[in-house]
Amino acid sequence: MKKMLWTGTTAVLLGLLAACGGNSSNQSAGASGPVSNAASATSTPASTSNTTASAESAVEKGQELFQANCSACHRIHEKLIGPPLAGVTKIRSKEWLYNWIRNSQAVINSGDTAAINLYKEYNQVQMTPFPQLSNEDIDNILAYIDSQSGQQ
Ligand code: HEC
Repeated sequence: MKKMLWTGTTAVLLGLLAACGGNSSNQSAGASGPVSNAASATSTPASTSNTTASAESAVEKGQELFQANCSACHRIHEKLIGPPLAGVTKIRSKEWLYNWIRNSQAVINSGDTAAINLYKEYNQVQMTPFPQLSNEDIDNILAYIDSQSGQQ
């Protein structure tokens, strides 16, 4: 009895589905969600030189740059693809950071021990080079990192 009912309902459902032609059910499926983050990290290099937002502080500009360019691989306090960046301005010089962020491979290839060790530690994952970031952009990013470094 139960079984027959079930079979009956299924048949009706199948009939309904066929009648609809299957058109409506597919439309929302491929919406463009989850990859947009990674994509924006590489496709919007965003150097914020002289925009209207001149009132923004270094930390705010740095936060925007960090989110657009770095957050796909870095957190301030946790290891992600790359190392946590809290306190990095204490262990590396400004020059080193400028060079590294603009082209980490060049620093590694120059024979810099810290760079080579980091690269090995992170299984030779290459950090994206950011040649478009000015010293000022990088200063802002570092200001943002510093502003977050004290907080857990
Ligand atoms: C594709 C992933 C990726 C992106 C994007 C990325 N990094 Fe990295 N970063 C790494 C990896 C991996 C390392 C570890 C070294 C290596 O493997 O080359 C690293 C290392 C570093 C280091 C050295 C940390 C230390 O302990 O000395 C700094 C500083 C750094 N990244 C800053 C940045 C900044 C700033 C940005 C954004 C402008 C950025 N990274 C974007 C992957 C990334």
